[in-house]
Amino acid sequence: MDEETNVLHVEICRRANSCLTDSVIEEAVDAELQSWSEIPLDVILYSKKFFVNTEVQCHVESVICSSDYVEKGTMKISGATIKYYVYSLTQENAAIETIKCDSDELPVAAHWLLPAEEFHFMWENLYYDCDIKNNLLRYVETTMLFSDHGVNSNIISWNKVVLLHGPPGTGKTSMCKALAQKAVIRMGKRFTYGRFIEINSHSLFSKWFSESGKLVMKLFDEIKNLVQDENALICILIDEVESLAHARKSCSNGTEPSDSIRVVNALLTQLDQIKRYPNVLILTTSNMTEAIDLAFVDRADIKQYLGYPSEVAIYNIYYSCLKELMRTEILETEVIYDISQLKTLGYTEYANTKNSVRLLELSRESEGLTGRTLRKIPFLAHALYTSTNKVTLSKFLKAIHSIILKQQEQENALQQS
Ligand SMILES: Nc1ncnc2c1ncn2[C@@H]1O[C@H](COP(=O)(O)OP(=O)(O)OP(=O)(O)O)[C@@H](O)[C@H]1O
Ligand SMILES: [Mg+2]
Repeated sequence: MDEETNVLHVEICRRANSCLTDSVIEEAVDAELQSWSEIPLDVILYSKKFFVNTEVQCHVESVICSSDYVEKGTMKISGATIKYYVYSLTQENAAIETIKCDSDELPVAAHWLLPAEEFHFMWENLYYDCDIKNNLLRYVETTMLFSDHGVNSNIISWNKVVLLHGPPGTGKTSMCKALAQKAVIRMGKRFTYGRFIEINSHSLFSKWFSESGKLVMKLFDEIKNLVQDENALICILIDEVESLAHARKSCSNGTEPSDSIRVVNALLTQLDQIKRYPNVLILTTSNMTEAIDLAFVDRADIKQYLGYPSEVAIYNIYYSCLKELMRTEILETEVIYDISQLKTLGYTEYANTKNSVRLLELSRESEGLTGRTLRKIPFLAHALYTSTNKVTLSKFLKAIHSIILKQQEQENALQQS
């Protein structure tokens, strides 16, 4: 295996009260990992459960190991090139930025410091097929590398705009948050922290057209202040960018034509200006690709479609939900295999694979449901079909089956109405 394909990324989340240096923490984790023959990939390794070294247990909350080549469930440490990233989470909640407009205080953006507790493990809990997640991350890393090296954008053109589009509930907003968090962790040597600014396009573009232009300017004045700190990665999220197109369209309906055009143009101009800074990344989402403002689509380098999860992705989502219910002792702890283990076992039904094989069947039956619906199913299954006592896995899978049928009935009914 060549060096590139054999990189093991080890992300170490330190405890809030730890005062050890990064290198001491790295060494302690390294010493322990070196004694493992196989490293589990993309599994949250809580230090209290997986590590024996008391220094690691005291100073590290959790560790996640991953490889750029996602097919594997585990990786041998011998011969791997290990890259360590040590980070701490900020505990603060989102701050809501308001701007004074006449006598009102309008909420125009929400603001998080990264890596944020609230976004913790979001990345690990999003499941897609192929290399969607890795490609997005590499895209962000290259963007920052080109900016830092001062690559001339008149010679090689790259924009700092990512557009995620697809049906509602397919993880677009979550992916933007997870990507920003991941980028800050992985680029910890370049950026000491990050900021995630979620612009509230509804309040910018809905009622206050006549004031919107001014609001956009005020908001970006503040963002420009934040961007001055080169040690911070500034990620700006404009969710549901189709509201820009609506704003433009309203001019053809004859309502306040010049104002609505002016505000969209003000935003595009501000974005063009701000993305010249090396430490800025602009993330956008839309669930109506046709309706997105053309001037906007044109500015995005990566237009990634996020769709309905496949059977394997659904298996992963259900698996993560079942594990969580076992961890929290709502479900009896029983054997359930992850998808790569099940593959190794040939998807064959034995006494100990029975529940996993059943889960795979349920995953197949769930195709066509969105990630948002899938994540609700275990809750509904518990609420509607189980008693409050600890439930066995096979009973719970039956309950899940009933809910899947119910969800599908409801969706069919909605489509026909
Ligand atoms: N592929 C997926 N894997 C795991 N969880 C998913 C996936 N897709 C969606 N989810 C879950 O569904 C929920 C909703 O996701 P999110 O709000 O990011 O969707 P969205 O695409 O932004 O929806 P909308 O278009 O309605 O804004 C989240 O809890 C997310 O974790
Ligand atoms: Mg969304």
